[in-house]
Formats: sequence, structure tokens, C-alpha cells
Amino acid sequence: MRSPARWFFVTYLTTPNSLQKEESSNMSGKVAKLAVFLVLVVSVLVLAACPGGQAPATTGQQGQGGLQVGIVLPTKDEPRWLQDEARFRELLKNANVSVEILFSQGSSATEKANVESLLTKGAKVIIITPHDGAAAAAAAEAARKAGAKVISYDRLILGTDAVDYYVTFDSVAVGEAQAKYLVEKVGNRKGAPLYLYAGAATDNNAFLFFEGAWNVLQPKIVDGTFVIKNSTAAEALKDKPKLTRDEMAQIIGQITTNWDFNTAKNLAEANLTAAKKEDKGDVFILAPNDGTARAIADAFAVDPDVTSYVITGQDAEIASVQYIIDGKQSMTVLKDTRTLAKDAIDAALAFLNGQTPPKTTTYNNQKIDVPAKPTEVITVDKSNVKAAIIDSGYWPADKFTGLP
Ligand code: BGC
Repeated sequence: MRSPARWFFVTYLTTPNSLQKEESSNMSGKVAKLAVFLVLVVSVLVLAACPGGQAPATTGQQGQGGLQVGIVLPTKDEPRWLQDEARFRELLKNANVSVEILFSQGSSATEKANVESLLTKGAKVIIITPHDGAAAAAAAEAARKAGAKVISYDRLILGTDAVDYYVTFDSVAVGEAQAKYLVEKVGNRKGAPLYLYAGAATDNNAFLFFEGAWNVLQPKIVDGTFVIKNSTAAEALKDKPKLTRDEMAQIIGQITTNWDFNTAKNLAEANLTAAKKEDKGDVFILAPNDGTARAIADAFAVDPDVTSYVITGQDAEIASVQYIIDGKQSMTVLKDTRTLAKDAIDAALAFLNGQTPPKTTTYNNQKIDVPAKPTEVITVDKSNVKAAIIDSGYWPADKFTGLP
């Protein structure tokens, strides 16, 4: 996979300082002073040569090859993406490839600026998790124009042909796993109150998760097992086994959390305020991911008319695994970010070496069919949390209290 002719380094924004510190501690007296002087002179020359006086963060760490892979993740405000960052860093410790990771902090403009800066540093492959799938098309096109390959990571970039590969989990299967869990727990009961929540409408995954959940829930809504309590749009469409994207957008518009914990909590509280006592009792909640599940669960837990709740999630975030152990969240869907990060780096290496990454299916991004090899997901609840999360090495046991 590797090109022996190239001189590879793994680089991070944080490494130059720490390396400098280590190096200077090994020197003494005049030698150290001379070294510091030379470093200063070289830095001044580098700065002078750079447009706008900005030195590239990875200068001096890249050998002859320059930056090879740029990774742009959507936000540091959700543990999910910090998980991915940590997995990338772990994986790259021993890899001979130069990589820089940047975050967009929920802004498509920052995302595009990040991509441009990585391209300026020479990145030949850009891995992006778009904050907004459609808005990210411009960033992908900038990368394509600069001759770089574009890998969509976890979320699909929409409406452009400038996407070369999609590294993802099977997101329809995620929604199906969540809904299957609710169906399993409801058993033979009829008329069980169902509260639906979804991700951000700017994220294609929100549609895939909802599509998966609808595949499983819809027959159980039609047969009277569940009664939807918080979406008139979903109630109006309950006879349709397959929804169009527009129909899903109508429902998601009513039940979106926007992937934001506060939005999720406020919406759950508003739904509970609007619901009558008889719409509560033992309830079932489709929550799209762990962060929103905890926020929604906290709201339902304090409502005096809610006797019990079953609530879904996804991502196996540490806080949610603890919620599952404590009985405050019912399940999560483990999407092994170790596999996803590895698939992304393998795909990047394939592109760097002029090869094509493996493909088992395609995802239509409203412009082209993007090749992909989706990864499977695992349902986790209290009954298998130890095996699936601890024994698998996903998280260490010392992160949790009261493990079963
Ligand atoms: C990801 C989820 C994540 C959500 C919110 C989705 O695109 O697939 O894992 O929880 O975004 O960030």
C-alpha cells in the first residue's frame, strides 16, 4: 500500500511544540542557545515566505512529502466526533502518512476554510464529515479543483460529483436497530404512546436513520401497537410503508433535535407539556443518538405522569453507556469508530497510491452514486454492555461505575 519513494510522517497541530521542548532539554549551554537562534532565523524566513505571514502548523514535520491527508470533522461539542478524532490519532501513531485534523465547529464557512487551508498545505486527500451535506459541496468542489480526492466520512456530501468515496456505517440499519428494540420491548401491548425524534435535516444520515426506523415502526403503528403522540405529519403518513424524501422532511421538520442537546430537551419538554396524562404512562421514545437521548430521557424522567420509558440512542458515548448501566437510557447502537477511521485511512492510502478503495454498494448523493463499503452496527443494552463495550476493548472498564 505504501510508496517507498516517499518520506512519510504523521503530523499533528500539537506535535511541533512538544518535540521542540524535548529536543532543547537534551541540549545545554551554548549549543542550546545557538539552536534556538537558528530556529528563530529559519522561522522568520519561513514566515516571510508564507502568504499572509501564517506559518503552516505542520512545518518541519512533513519531510519531503508535505501534507498528504486533511481531515475535517464537524464539531468538538459532541463526544461522537472526539471519539473519531481519538481513533484517528491512535491509528496514525504508527502510520507513515502525514495527516492534519481540523474541526468546523458547526459552521460550513469554517469547514470550507479548513479544506482550503489543508489544500494549501498540499493535502492530496480530503476526508470530510460535512456539517451540512449540501453546503459542503462547495468545499468538495474546491478539493476536486485542486486535484485532491474527496472522501465523505460518516455523513454524505450532497449534490455534487466531487465525492470520490463514502466511508460509512449502514445508517438505515441503525434506524432499524433502534426501532426493533422498541418493538421488542412493547411486546403484545396495544396503544403504547410513541414519541419520535430525529437528527438535523441538513444531515443526510437523519433521513437514513428515520427511513430505517420507519421500515420497522410503520407496520406497528398501523396495527395499533404504537400511537404517535408528537407528530401530526407522521400520524398523517402512517399508512405509507415507504416515504418519499419530502414526506420524511415534513416529519423531521416537526421532530428534529438538530443534533443539539438543548433543542432536544426543549422539544421533549414542549411535547410533554402538550400531551395529556393518558398520552404518557409507559412510553416509547425513538431518540436518534446518544446526546439527544440523554437530554430527552432527562425530560421524560422528571415528568410525574411518565411511569416508565424505553428510549433508543446511538454512538456508544461514554455518558450513554453509563446511562444504560444506570437504567436511564435503554439502548445504544455501537458504531465502531475504530473500524470507520481505519477504513477512511485505508481509502486515503489507496488513493495516494493510485488505487481504488473497495466498494460493496453505492449511495446516491442527489447527483451521483458514490461508491461505499458500509460497516455493520451492533445493538447494545444492559444485557450485553460488558461484552460489547468493555470486553471488545471499545471503552475501558474504569470509565464506568456499577458495570453488570
Ligand atoms: C452521525 C451520528 C451522530 C450525529 C450527530 C450523524 O451523522 O452518524 O453518529 O450522532 O450525526 O453528530
